[in-house]
Amino acid sequence: MGEIQREPILENEEEDTQAELDVWKYVFGFGEMAVVKCAIELGIADAIESHGDSMTLSELSSALACSPSQLYRILRFLMHRNIFKQTPNNQGPIMLAPWHALSTRALANGMPSFEKAHGEDLWSYGATNLAHTQLFNEAMACNARLMIPAIFEGCGEVFDGLGSLVDVGGGNGTAMGLLVKACPWIKGINFDLPHVVSGAPNCDGVEHVGGDMFQSVPKADAAFIMNVLHDWGDEECIQVLKKCREAIPKQKGKIIIIDPVVEEDNKTGDYKLNDFRLMLDMVMMAHTNTGKERTMKEWEYIIKEAGFNQITVKPIRAVQSVIIAFP
Ligand SMILES: C[S@@+](CC[C@H](N)C(=O)[O-])C[C@H]1O[C@@H](n2cnc3c(N)ncnc32)[C@H](O)[C@@H]1O
Repeated sequence: MGEIQREPILENEEEDTQAELDVWKYVFGFGEMAVVKCAIELGIADAIESHGDSMTLSELSSALACSPSQLYRILRFLMHRNIFKQTPNNQGPIMLAPWHALSTRALANGMPSFEKAHGEDLWSYGATNLAHTQLFNEAMACNARLMIPAIFEGCGEVFDGLGSLVDVGGGNGTAMGLLVKACPWIKGINFDLPHVVSGAPNCDGVEHVGGDMFQSVPKADAAFIMNVLHDWGDEECIQVLKKCREAIPKQKGKIIIIDPVVEEDNKTGDYKLNDFRLMLDMVMMAHTNTGKERTMKEWEYIIKEAGFNQITVKPIRAVQSVIIAFP
């Protein structure tokens, strides 16, 4: 019998990735069988069958007395393996319906469009419709995957020297996960509403904390707040920014705001980017009660009212800019 030789060292990246996946398959290959067994024990297929039609995550979790966030993770895996299928349901209309009520919002004392369509605001709606919250957070996570590299490219130095960072309204923690991956010296805190963080996946270097940013914000060297303040009116933003200020060191702390800055006139900036910022302003009008996109003058007003003295703005390769505020 001839000598058995080791396979030559793999040369290209694709082969490396395949080899890594193969190793994982040998280690956890039984996982699929175990999760199918779990689905049988929970009675997922039986529940859907006896319901007679497709079910929403919240219907299925109450029928099975399961935690919606844990059940969602199991189903996500099984759907990925084509064992269950997600059918297009009423998620689109949830975000579309408020647009039909946009004219109501424009009236003097008009009702917010989302409330008119669904009877409550977007965030309260999400607390009782966890499938919608999951979908919303996944959509925001996709955006975060584009935003974080753009922020690093445009002003990565803003994270230098930070020992800890809290992402206020950080959703499922995707942004903070990417931040600590790029800056492993940072202890990351992902802060959002309790029902949002309870469905968030674990991520190395990131602690999920549930709470209400209008009450208090976890302490850290700096606060990061992306695509959040534009959801709120001036008074609410001032309140959140004050809570952020209380959470950071008085001397060396800073708040890193990622949000659009609307150009006052279209002469100086990029026309297409500004056009999209104005479109986002319409989205805020349709989806939030008090949110809006702001000009630099409007940003300065709320930031100064919240007690910050110094403001720096850095445009990045995105619709949003980076606004850094120092106490
Ligand atoms: C538009 S999303 C932005 C998510 C994330 N920062 C991003 O850019 O991907 C706004 C986030 O604010 C969170 N939020 C709303 N009200 C909140 C509150 N009172 N306290 C903490 N987070 C809140 C929502 O749950 C949501 O995750």
